[in-house]
Amino acid sequence: MKKIEIFSHNPVLLKECVEGLEIKPEGTYVDATVGGAGHSIEIARKLESGKLFAFDRDPDAVLVSKKRLSSYPAFVINSNFCEMKKRLESRGIREVDGILIDLGVSSYQLDNPKRGFSYRHDGALDMRMSKQGVTAAEIVNKFSEEELIEILKKYGQERFARSIAANIVKRRSQKLIQTTLDLANIIKFSIPAKFRRNKNPCKKSFQAIRIAVNGELESLEIGLEASFDLLKAGGRLLVITFHSLEDRLVKQKYKIWSRGCVCPPKSPICVCGNVPLAKLVNKKAIRPSDLEIATNPRSKSAKLRILEKL
Ligand SMILES: C[S@@+](CC[C@H](N)C(=O)[O-])C[C@H]1O[C@@H](n2cnc3c(N)ncnc32)[C@H](O)[C@@H]1O
Repeated sequence: MKKIEIFSHNPVLLKECVEGLEIKPEGTYVDATVGGAGHSIEIARKLESGKLFAFDRDPDAVLVSKKRLSSYPAFVINSNFCEMKKRLESRGIREVDGILIDLGVSSYQLDNPKRGFSYRHDGALDMRMSKQGVTAAEIVNKFSEEELIEILKKYGQERFARSIAANIVKRRSQKLIQTTLDLANIIKFSIPAKFRRNKNPCKKSFQAIRIAVNGELESLEIGLEASFDLLKAGGRLLVITFHSLEDRLVKQKYKIWSRGCVCPPKSPICVCGNVPLAKLVNKKAIRPSDLEIATNPRSKSAKLRILEKL
């Protein structure tokens, strides 16, 4: 078996997720983002005749979690979660009792310089979760200046997008940008000193390029629809997001599924015929406690939203 560097990731909002899923020992569950199997192990432990199907598009995560879940009724599948319906149908599964989607990247991906996600460690500029397709280096070196501005603005809400894109284009005309620190240095150089003080100035741009490399928002949109279709009545969908673009998408979908009549308030009778398809289990997003943030600072921006299908 191929050896993987130590795969470490602290599952975020673990207790809240396990409770929120209301696991039935005979139920069928999906962990759409198995990572290091932190959530999956706790879900699988509660199953008797039930089954867990765990997905990840990262082959390293699949290798590790297959091992970690080997003594449980769990099946690990190397796939983008946007294909979960097809993958489950081919195993005879048409409906499930609960689905967890814990978005973003794992600590293993972030901390492993070979994966090229981090502005803190030097490594080849890669950022592909699936290890397939277009790399971050290809985007940075081949996309036009306008396309780079669009990515930095749309996925990173980076106010210095123009200056960063202009400097990328200037540098790459002298020498290809090949490593994470090459890119980090260009970003730092592009942002005025007074805006570099508190947060790392690379955070937004690295997030933006990562989202573009992995088509994250497109996958999320399809994955949410697929999840909702797969849920049984009474089944629950739990999504943990880490930034506002993901959270907005989840909130919008939950709102559409849980809203009833959309007739104008003055309308004497309902003519739209809309009925809610789901209910929000928690009106506000669930956030990690101060204790969790202190022990796992990466959990700080996490938001958990739970929906129940009617
Ligand atoms: C935050 S980690 C999950 C950690 C996991 N819950 C645990 O406890 O170890 C996110 C994982 O989701 C995977 N991922 C992100 N987007 C995905 C997608 N569209 N399809 C499948 N896996 C995805 C990443 O490769 C990463 O391993």
